Formats: sequence, structure tokens, C-alpha cells
Amino acid sequence: MSQSSGAAGIESFYLEARTIEPPVGFRERALVADRDIYARAEADWEGFWAEQAAELLDWFEAWDTILDWKLPFARWFIGGTLNVSHNCLDRHVAAGRGDRVAFHWEGEPGDTRTITYADLLEEVERFSNVLESLGVTRGDRVAVYMPMIPELPVAMLACTRIGAVHSVVFGGFSSEALRDRIVDAEAKVLVTADGGWRKGAAVPLKANADVALEETPSIDHVVVVRRTEVDVEMRSGRDRWWHELMADARRHRVPEPMASEDLLYLLYTSGTTAKPKGIMHTTGGYLTQVAFTHKYVFDLHPEEDVYWCAADIGWVTGHSYIVYGPLANGATSVLYEGSPDFPTRDRWWSIVEQYGVTLLYTAPTAVRTFMKWGSEEPAKHDLSSLRLLGSVGEPINPEAWMWYFEHIGGGRCPVVDTWWQTETGAIMISPLPGVTTLKPGSATTPLPGIAAEVVDDAGKKVAEGGGYVTITRPWPAMLRGIYGDPVRYRDTYWSRFEGRYFAGDGARIDDDGYFWFMGRVDDVMNVSGHRISTTEVESALVDHPSVAEAAVVGAKDATTGQAIIAYVTLRGGHHASEEHGQSLRRHCATKIGPIARPKTIVFTDDLPKTRSGKIMRRLLRDVAEGRDLGDTTTLADASVVEEIRARAQAAPSEE
Ligand code: WTA
Repeated sequence: MSQSSGAAGIESFYLEARTIEPPVGFRERALVADRDIYARAEADWEGFWAEQAAELLDWFEAWDTILDWKLPFARWFIGGTLNVSHNCLDRHVAAGRGDRVAFHWEGEPGDTRTITYADLLEEVERFSNVLESLGVTRGDRVAVYMPMIPELPVAMLACTRIGAVHSVVFGGFSSEALRDRIVDAEAKVLVTADGGWRKGAAVPLKANADVALEETPSIDHVVVVRRTEVDVEMRSGRDRWWHELMADARRHRVPEPMASEDLLYLLYTSGTTAKPKGIMHTTGGYLTQVAFTHKYVFDLHPEEDVYWCAADIGWVTGHSYIVYGPLANGATSVLYEGSPDFPTRDRWWSIVEQYGVTLLYTAPTAVRTFMKWGSEEPAKHDLSSLRLLGSVGEPINPEAWMWYFEHIGGGRCPVVDTWWQTETGAIMISPLPGVTTLKPGSATTPLPGIAAEVVDDAGKKVAEGGGYVTITRPWPAMLRGIYGDPVRYRDTYWSRFEGRYFAGDGARIDDDGYFWFMGRVDDVMNVSGHRISTTEVESALVDHPSVAEAAVVGAKDATTGQAIIAYVTLRGGHHASEEHGQSLRRHCATKIGPIARPKTIVFTDDLPKTRSGKIMRRLLRDVAEGRDLGDTTTLADASVVEEIRARAQAAPSEE
């Protein structure tokens, strides 16, 4: 396959062997233009991170110990105190940069707001006082369920200012998912909005929240931002309008000095069981690594760059690379509320052109969707401001990588494919754009200070070839645990391979030591970059009164990476039909959220089971992906599979 040679120069013409050097113009101005940083970090990795912490952040009191590591519990920068909102706001304003734009915000309907660092600081201080007036103090949990509006980062930063812990719940989650997360965290206050705009419609966030609030005894108050102006019910004594509280709030609030290891936030993510895990992130180490990676992976020049991470703040990507990393570094960002095809399929490209975006960070599923919509959409706009592109959330296939590189980046922008997880808190494996030779489809190598290895089943390092991705020593932004469940923390991440963190991903290492990620090896699906557990969807399905048994697998999908395929056995008296499939999809959306709707539902009288009664998911995946079946000798009843295969071929799929 031949490729046109852009400014960056493609040196090889074969798929796996294509390499792309950093463009000369890019390298000349890059913050890291020398590979020495890798060796320097490796020689003294603790010292390296301490240097970053000192250089990138403001500390009220210095730490006395860099790292205390008692596997699996790490504590970084012990004795140090700092405040996240001070680092993200006050210090920039104090340095005379109050007029710099923090966010160019654009609502889906086309309304805009320009928010400077000084503006943001004022709002955060006021909202800190609002939270305190509602009884929130250090260590209390605040749940946040909001659209992509400026009040969302304001709420998060206000929590950090007073030492409260936020738990942001993605606005696409259902009432029940919200309820479970509020209950697990025992949140005292919920911050939400009447709604948010998505594809021209108002998503009824407050109405969803009201259903959750029926069963959340810990919540004393609800603060509601007016956004869509749909009618909402305000329960007196509990529910208050954001704008009314803010109008009455005092202007100033000093940032609370927090210990480096104080809890900063909880973020729930799917694991292999039905119960989501409250991933715990703390203060000093987390902020150090997000600031470091945001600065060097995106080669941020804060005085000139306009950075846009097009994720939702409800996911970890938004926490680390819309809110904390960019603000800690004094960056100017774009924040966009809505969907990429409203009102037309070139909305993103008009935003890039309008604000002169230089750094764009998005997910492979978005890139593949844009590919499907055609290169004429970006071609309608002047995208020449772009100088770097990023990818996150799932493996990016070489074809999508090349399309992104050529049609969005004009062949001149390095593409940084960044591998990391909710649990890692910050980017772990990624190019440094001024020095790394890129290979389309590879996240390349661990960043300076990070040590990752691929191992085989026995936990032995694989120098070249496939295996499991592990991390071999603690890193500053690593999760500190699962909220309320230290045993699950150890079991999930630190017990499969002795002395190593197990990421749950498979990867291949090539002869240059580059990582080629291959997806999850456990029962977690990755749909459009969102983690969903197969068990969670199965529990939602069997919760439906008509369902006797369900097995869910993720199957390869050209646009969304994986798609949810559900095999369902109905109870007696219930009949398979397309309408019934729709009602099961609706049920999953109610239990978890619209992202959990199965694309295909295969009704079947039986599921393939081993003699001991375990469902053989591997076979179901083979069926879903149209592969020949491997070993079926352990099946209790081999004829079941043929039956399922025939039905799977006939089952309708939802687009
Ligand atoms: C996958 C998102 C390949 C991976 C930041 C990981 C990736 C999971 C990449 C974490 C990438 C993320 N290449 N796979 N560049 N980035 N993943 O917690 O399977 O939502 O374990 O964090 O996404 O998803 P999470």
C-alpha cells in the first residue's frame, strides 16, 4: 500500500513497517527535542518525578519523602501540601495572566462564552462558598451530573478548593447508574443542570436525577444550573438554583492546603463484575503527572496554543486533559457541549477553524466516524492552524491513523496515540512528538519515568511478541485504591502477576520495543472508547422479567471499536420478536445508560456451556465475529452452537 509522502516524510510503504519521523519544523520548536530525557528519568525515576513536581506545581509546603511504596499502596510526596485550584487558577492570575482565556466555550445551539483565568477563579471562589454554605466540608463527597458547560469545571475546581471530593457521573448515565454511584460514595450534595443539549434535543438531567434522588439518603442538597430552560421540579428545602446561590455568594475563598495524599476525586469505572469501581485519585502525584504529560505529550506552548480535547468531562480523559492538566499548565482550551453532527457533519471543523485550534485530542471511534462521513467535511474548512493530533480510548487502526494524519493533519502534524486508563490517571505509553519515530497504529513506548512490560501467562517478560500489559513500579498518578474495597483493589490489579500492576490489556511488542495494543483480555468491552463490563449488561438483561439467562460479548465493529452482542434466553411464556429486542435495549439504557444498548440481540433456547455449567464466551465471540469455531470439545452440547450461529446470522442489528 503506497502513501503520499507529506511534510513529515513516510519512509516505508508497507503497513506495519511505515514509520513517520517528527517533521523538522515541529522538532525545532518542540519542548523535548532530545531523547536524553528517557535515560535521565530511568537513572533515578523517583528523583525525576520529584523534579517534575517541583518544577510544574506550586507547593505550600515541600515534601520530605518522595515515595512510600508498600505494594499495592503508594504514597507520593509525603509531607507536601498544595491545593489543586490554586495551581490551576490563582497562581496564573497572580503571575499577571488573568486575562488569558481558559475556555472558549461553545454550546451546541451556537451560544458561546469566553472565560478567562480571572473569570474562572472568581466563579470557583464563589461556588466554593456556595458549597460551604450547603454544609460541605473537607473530605465530603459531592456528586456532579452535568452537561459540558463551564459550570462543570467550576464545580470540580470549587470542590478541590475546599478539600471536598468530587464524583463526576457522566451525563449519559441513567438514573439508576447515578443512584448507585451516589450511594456508594455517600455524597452529600449533587450538582446538576435542568438539562443539556445533544443533537438538538434537551437531555433531561434534572428529571433523571429526581428518580435517583428517591433512593439517595445521603444527599442533603441539590444545586441546579439553568441551561435548557425546560420545566423542572424543585423540591423546596433540598433543591436550589445555581444562579441564585451564586448571586448571593461571597467573592473570596482561600484555597485549603491539602496533603499530597488527600483524596481528590472518585471516578467510577467498569470492571469485570456488575458493580462499578470507585477509582480513587489523590492530589500531589496526580496533578504532577497530568501536568507533565499534558505539557510534553502535547508539546504545549501555552502562550500560543489553542488546545481542544473533545472528550466528555464525565470520563477520565476529560478530568485529566480538559480540566486538570490544561489548567495547571495555563493553557487556552476549547470546550464544546454537543454532538459532532449538529447541525451539520462539519461542526468540529468549523470549531477548529473559528478558534484556530492547534492541538486536537480525540478518540479513534470519532476518527472512524469522520472517515465514514467523508473527507469532504473537513475539506470545507481551513484546518491549517493544527500542529498536533492526539488519540485515546482504544487501539487506533493504521487506516484510521493515516486518515487522521492526512485529512485532518494535512500530513504535517504528529499523531500521538496515548495509552492510559482511569486507573493510571494520566498518559503512560505515548510518543513524545518532537523525538519519537511514529508507527501508525502503535502507542510507541512508555513515557520517561514509566516502566511497562508485556508478560506471558507465567508472568515472564516478553521481549518481542504478544502478551499482557503490566506496569512494573508505582507512578505518581496511579489509583490509590477502589473506594471502600481494598481487597478488590489488590485482587483486580496486583495479584495476577507478582509485583506487577496488571492493566487488563493485551499488546504485542515489536523489535523496536514498540507497544501495539490489542484490546482488553478480560470481560470489559470498549464501545466507542467507553468501558462497559459484559457482566453489567448481563445483569441488566436478566433483571428484565422476561429474561431467563443472558450472555454478553463485545464483537469487533468498524466504527465503535467493539459492539455489544447479547445472547438471550427467554423465560417460558415470552416470545422472541424485534419489538421484544427493542424493549430489552430500552431496559439496558434505563439500567445503565444509552451506551449500554446491545447492538444485536440473539434470542436462543440455549447457551453454550461447559460440562460444569460455565458459559463459553469465547465461542460466542467467535460466532459474533463470524469466525470458525475453535475447540468445542468441552461443550456439554455441541449442537447448541450451530443453532446459535444460524440465529445470530438472522438477528437484526441496531445502527
Ligand atoms: C483502552 C481511557 C489502545 C485500553 C483513558 C484501556 C487504549 C482502556 C488506548 C482504558 C490506546 C485507552 N490504545 N487502547 N491509546 N487508550 N485504551 O479507563 O483497553 O476509559 O485499558 O481510560 O481503554 O479506558 P478508560
